[in-house]
Amino acid sequence: MNGWKAKNYQESRLLASDIRNDKADQMSEIILMEDIAAQLVATSKGILAADESTGTITKRFDGIQTESTEDSRRDYREMLFTANGVSDYVSGVILYDETLRQSAKNGQRLADTLSAQGIIPGIKVDMGAKPLAFSEDELITEGLDGLRGRLAEYYELGARFAKWRAVISIGDAAPSEYCIETNAHALARYAALCQEANIVPIIEPEILMDGSHSIDECYAVTETTLKTVFDELYKQRVVLEQMLLKPNMVVSGKDCPEQASAEEVAAKTIYCFEQTVPVAVPGIVFLSGGQTEAQATANLNAMNQMDRHPWEISYSFGRGLQASALAAWRGKAENVSAAQEAFINRCKLTSAARDGNYSAEMESDT
Ligand code: 13P
Repeated sequence: MNGWKAKNYQESRLLASDIRNDKADQMSEIILMEDIAAQLVATSKGILAADESTGTITKRFDGIQTESTEDSRRDYREMLFTANGVSDYVSGVILYDETLRQSAKNGQRLADTLSAQGIIPGIKVDMGAKPLAFSEDELITEGLDGLRGRLAEYYELGARFAKWRAVISIGDAAPSEYCIETNAHALARYAALCQEANIVPIIEPEILMDGSHSIDECYAVTETTLKTVFDELYKQRVVLEQMLLKPNMVVSGKDCPEQASAEEVAAKTIYCFEQTVPVAVPGIVFLSGGQTEAQATANLNAMNQMDRHPWEISYSFGRGLQASALAAWRGKAENVSAAQEAFINRCKLTSAARDGNYSAEMESDT
């Protein structure tokens, strides 16, 4: 297997240099997965996760008393994607299937609105986390059936990277080895299919923050999960240079009486990755996972202030970038510019944290 993998990677490198050297072939449409991965974690930039399923976005809209319809979902996302200066902070956007097929009010496809600004469109391809057979309260992510065909279509529609989220929770007897292993296996199957389709896979094993567990319990479960995931990626021949990891930060459970500081979160998270994430992986893009915008930003900043990690450390936030914008918008056209201002402000702070240049005082300056 080692030989196969080395040969596969070498061939993709040779192909890369052929394509780069082939100046005459201006028509070449092949963009290398390594280049996409590098662009997604470029300095000062990160990913906007705007791929909430219809169920999830409806819950978010309920919170602002806004009806969730095809048009309101389109309007909301169009508002985010056209905010002035968004491409200074956002390298790529993860879309939901519906959004990848939608057009803006001016008739331009939303994916093209992003590409025109140099922002790479991505796509959530999993079909959600469902109950895991023979295991109470644990989940397995579905969506492998027919995935090869869907990926080919998504490529045609402009998607150059994808996301698959596995959900692991911490409880009395959870997570089980069974839950971690089945989810890791599915993540690797998804990743291999993506690379076969020339789409960069974002691999997201999320350990939920829900619960009263300590940061050290979160550390232990994150470490075991990442070890298992990278073992499966290896077995299933996934090329590490052509993927990104989207993990949770190692944090205290939401209801834990002792909440760890940003410095402790950063030290334990980076140490955990040192034990588990190969240096061939180009970047780690965090989910915000229910932390407040300011918490997620402070933790990201503390990690980027540490100088000992070999990976780019960036963001792929959903709520961590959208919470203020959503609250400012409230589903009303007259609030669009205030919501865009709130969104860009959040992007600016998160981008500063991605470079290790954020401070809590910046929250009140803006
Ligand atoms: P949050 O940042 O809100 O956790 O969302 C990121 C995401 O993409 C979850 O799958």
